[in-house]
Amino acid sequence: MLGSDLQHALAGREVTALTRAELDITDARAVSAAVAGHDVVFNTAAYTDVDGAEAHEADAFAINVTGVENVARAAATQGAKLVTISTDYVFDGAAAGPYPEDSPRDPINAYGRSKAAGEERALAAHPGGTYIVRTAWLYGAAGANFAATMLRLAASNPTVSVVDDQLGQPTWTADLAAQLIALVDADAPAGIYHGTNSGQTSWFGFARAVFEEAGLDPERVLPTDGASFARPAARPSYSVLGHGAWTRAGLAPMRPWRDALHAAAASGALAAR
Ligand SMILES: NC(=O)c1ccc[n+]([C@@H]2O[C@H](COP(=O)([O-])OP(=O)(O)OC[C@H]3O[C@@H](n4cnc5c(N)ncnc54)[C@H](OP(=O)(O)O)[C@@H]3O)[C@@H](O)[C@H]2O)c1
Repeated sequence: MLGSDLQHALAGREVTALTRAELDITDARAVSAAVAGHDVVFNTAAYTDVDGAEAHEADAFAINVTGVENVARAAATQGAKLVTISTDYVFDGAAAGPYPEDSPRDPINAYGRSKAAGEERALAAHPGGTYIVRTAWLYGAAGANFAATMLRLAASNPTVSVVDDQLGQPTWTADLAAQLIALVDADAPAGIYHGTNSGQTSWFGFARAVFEEAGLDPERVLPTDGASFARPAARPSYSVLGHGAWTRAGLAPMRPWRDALHAAAASGALAAR
C-alpha cells in the first residue's frame, strides 16, 4: 500500500521499484545486487500480519529483522541513504501523552517485537545513513485498510460498531510518501522520525469521519470497547506519536489527520475493499 503511493510520488525521478516477486529482502545477495548503483533506498516491505505474527513470530523476524538488516547492510556498503518503515507497536501504548522519538522501545506484541528489533539492526548496520520512520493507522488507494473496510461494511450493514477506547493517528499513505521524500531531499539528520498525520482520534472517530467523507450518515457508526473485539495480538490503547524530530530537522510535521482524510477522499483514494 505505501510502496505503491511512494512509487507514484517519485514519478519523474530515476527509480527502480521492486515487488516481492522481484526481490525477496530475506535474500542478502539479491538485496545487495538490487541496491547497487542507487543513492537512496526506501524499504516499505514487511511482514504486516499483526495477528498472524503471534503464532508465526519467526516468520515476522525473518522479514522485519533479517530482511531489514540485509537492506541496511547493502545500503551501507553502497553508501546509500536508507529509509525504512516501522510502527507505533514498538511501544506498549500505555502512555498519557505523545511518544517522543527517543522513548524506550517496549513492544506490545510479536509484530512490534519484530519491528523494534529491525529498527535496532538497521541503526547498528548503517548508523550514519538510516532513517527509521514509524507510522500507524495507514490507509490509501492500494491495499486493504480500515477505511476501505468501513466502506465495505457500510454497504451491507445498517450500523457498524467500532472501538472507541483506542487512540491513534489515521495516516494517508500519499502524505507519508511525500514526507519520506522530503526527509531525504532535505538531507535531514539520520535517526528516528514519526511519520503520522497530526492530531488524534479513536477508531470510532476515524470510522465516523470516513462515513462523513463518503456522504454516509456518521450516526450509523456506534461506539464499542476493545474488550468486545478480542484478537490474537494485543492492541495499544494510546498510540499517539510525537513529531518533534521534524521540527528539529527544519521540516514541517504532517498535516492534521482530518484534513488528510478529506484530501484522500477528494482524490478518490477511499474505496470499499
Ligand atoms: N498498514 C499500517 O497501518 C501500518 C502501520 C504501522 C506500520 N506499518 C508499516 O508500514 C510499512 C508499509 O506497510 P503497508 O501497509 O504498505 O504494507 P503492505 O501493503 O502489507 O505491503 C508490504 C509489502 O511487503 C511485501 N513483502 C513481504 N515480505 C517480503 C519480502 N520478504 N521481500 C519483499 N517484499 C516483501 C508484501 O508482499 P506480498 O503482499 O506479496 O506478501 C507487500 O507488498 C511496513 O513496514 C509496515 O510494517 C504499516
